[in-house]
Amino acid sequence: MTILCEINNGKKIWPPPIWIMRQAGRYLPEYNIIRKKAGSFLDLCYNPKYSSEVTLQPIKRFNLDAAIIFADILLIAENLNLKLQFEDSVGPIITPTITNSLNLDKVIQVENSRLMKVMDSIDLSRNLLEKEKSLIGFCGAPWTVLTYLINGTSTRDFQDTISWMHNNKTLAAELLDVLTVLSIDYLSLQIEAGADVIKIFDTWSGVLEREDFLNWVVQPTKNIVSAIKNKYKAVPVIGFPKGAKDFYEVYIDETGVDIIALDHDLNRDFCRDTLQKKAILQGNVSPESLRTGGQQLEDEIFDTMEKFGKEPFIINLGHGIIKDTPITNVENFIKIIRDYN
Ligand code: CP3
Repeated sequence: MTILCEINNGKKIWPPPIWIMRQAGRYLPEYNIIRKKAGSFLDLCYNPKYSSEVTLQPIKRFNLDAAIIFADILLIAENLNLKLQFEDSVGPIITPTITNSLNLDKVIQVENSRLMKVMDSIDLSRNLLEKEKSLIGFCGAPWTVLTYLINGTSTRDFQDTISWMHNNKTLAAELLDVLTVLSIDYLSLQIEAGADVIKIFDTWSGVLEREDFLNWVVQPTKNIVSAIKNKYKAVPVIGFPKGAKDFYEVYIDETGVDIIALDHDLNRDFCRDTLQKKAILQGNVSPESLRTGGQQLEDEIFDTMEKFGKEPFIINLGHGIIKDTPITNVENFIKIIRDYN
């Protein structure tokens, strides 16, 4: 059984297991070399040999306790016959954006799509990863993926996105359903290929009012979690409703996730007193503190360890590592945790 599965079964592991969101990425020189060899970011995602190599790079360098498969939550756009590109200074670009003319009968099933390259990468990574280390598979939650499909790219103005959802209720509901079904297939195939933990990223869940949150974040996630739990009882599911503040509690209650990824805006006393009774905590050192390092980082690690350490928990950041984070700070982060007693 891998270390995150043991934690999920209630085993206290001290010091806690460590992994870092976006642990494979541009702050690592060895990543940048493979990224260049691969050509584009998408070429890297779809090349199982390279993507499994970058999946394992942070494990080799830092001896982290879990690897997360190298891919992206937006690859699934291609299954809706949309074109996905990544441009260096822009990020993701999806064309065309969702229109009423989208033909949902032509959805490409996961097993017939390029997403199967991700399974090859999982298979390669699992074979090379030590058996006690976890391999995390993932998908984007339907709501977060949908924000990119509606806008065609990253947005800061979610009011337009939310208005679109309200003005196109039938299509919006259909899209959430299609993404839910695709995500269930995608995660199932990842588990079959060797992922032993699953994470659902809902980066933009924090922009919604309660009712929309329940309909667009909670309900689709609940459907995904229950389908996965029906088939794979032993596979822990991590939910990450980033920015959801007061709705973290209802998210845990309603979706049935096992592990809750905390963002760094949450108050740790609240997390300990309320959320830790309901799910295993993962988090939540701020990426800014990791970049800054020194006393600020040490204080935050100690605070996290003291507050969450009475129960089994997983230490991580509250969001992805920032790309100019010094590697020495990552080394210190791990050393401080592992030397703590
Ligand atoms: O190490 C890991 O965590 C695994 C790989 C991973 C990536 N993206 C690689 C990536 C994971 C789990 C993701 C998830 C993801 N992708 C999310 C949810 C988590 C979060 O960060 O909130 C989102 C919203 C995306 C969409 C996405 N991918 C954007 C908006 C961007 C551009 C912004 C950026 O950081 O450049 C990406 C690109 C991306 N995904 C990179 C990486 C390593 C950088 C691409 C590069 O190397 O050029």
